[in-house]
Amino acid sequence: MSIRKVGVVGAGTMGNGIAQVFAQAGFDVTLQDVSPAALDRARATIDKSLAKFVEKGKLAAADRDAALGRLKTESRVEALHDADYVVEAILENVDAKRTLFSLLDQLTRPEVILSSNTSSISITLIGAATKRPDRVLGMHFMNPVPLMPLVELIRGQATSSESMAIASNLCVTLGKTGVEASDYPGFIANRILMPMINEAVFALMEGVGTADAIDAVMKLGMNHPMGPLTLADFIGLDVCVAILDVLHQGLGDPKYRACPLLRRMVAAGRLGRKTGHGFYSYA
Ligand SMILES: NC(=O)c1ccc[n+]([C@@H]2O[C@H](COP(=O)([O-])OP(=O)(O)OC[C@H]3O[C@@H](n4cnc5c(N)ncnc54)[C@H](O)[C@@H]3O)[C@@H](O)[C@H]2O)c1
Repeated sequence: MSIRKVGVVGAGTMGNGIAQVFAQAGFDVTLQDVSPAALDRARATIDKSLAKFVEKGKLAAADRDAALGRLKTESRVEALHDADYVVEAILENVDAKRTLFSLLDQLTRPEVILSSNTSSISITLIGAATKRPDRVLGMHFMNPVPLMPLVELIRGQATSSESMAIASNLCVTLGKTGVEASDYPGFIANRILMPMINEAVFALMEGVGTADAIDAVMKLGMNHPMGPLTLADFIGLDVCVAILDVLHQGLGDPKYRACPLLRRMVAAGRLGRKTGHGFYSYA
């Protein structure tokens, strides 16, 4: 089956970037979100991102216009009925994802691959909510999607090799590198990244250093491009807590327990960049 129409569900931090890279690569994209405000924000973010590529001479203005012409936004999930491939990027919640996948399973043709951008939730569990678990896989893009080359490809218990090969080829078409990981909580990326971010928040809570000091040590001493607290703000503190909960529950080790300060900030609505406040403030 040839893939021309791609459906992206969820137009938040990740969904808008995923829609953008597919549109830039020549696919017809329908970006769907239950929130019309999120769709408006996504359009503005994509416009800005493409404009930056044009400004830097990395994209011709005509190609930008063509990419925008291939992108539609929709608030009804039924609009994805004729998609050839789906990427889900809604909130990191297992029940919400399983409900959505069951609906997508009924809406789309049976041969269509349904992929999830989940950071940590079991692909096997998501696939089991459908009648096509062999065609459910993880396609974990990194933030910001238009700039980051990695896509972690997660093979669930029932995912077929054919589905993995299709996803891997799609990564090449998008100009990305797909790396395969097994279906264990957090896969590779967040199994390693989240404990580091969580430890940085514990260090802040215990007064080991200020946010600036903690980030400076990791940037200047470990050669990380950004400090862990800046990165947490970038990812979204609610997303970090959700991932840590999956690691804690799935692996059963208390070392993955989310730092109480991280939970408190989420309770206060300080979610990082997307709300203007996290460990730092953003204009
Ligand atoms: N933020 C990151 O850095 C990052 C990186 C990699 C993967 N992820 C994963 O990507 C997914 C999305 O994360 P995000 O940071 O973009 O979240 P986000 O909170 O920025 O956006 C989620 C969007 O999904 C929409 N939504 C919620 N339920 C929906 C439904 N049933 N149907 C359609 N739309 C719905 C919301 O309105 C919102 O716009 C999560 O699974 C997350 O773990 C996030």
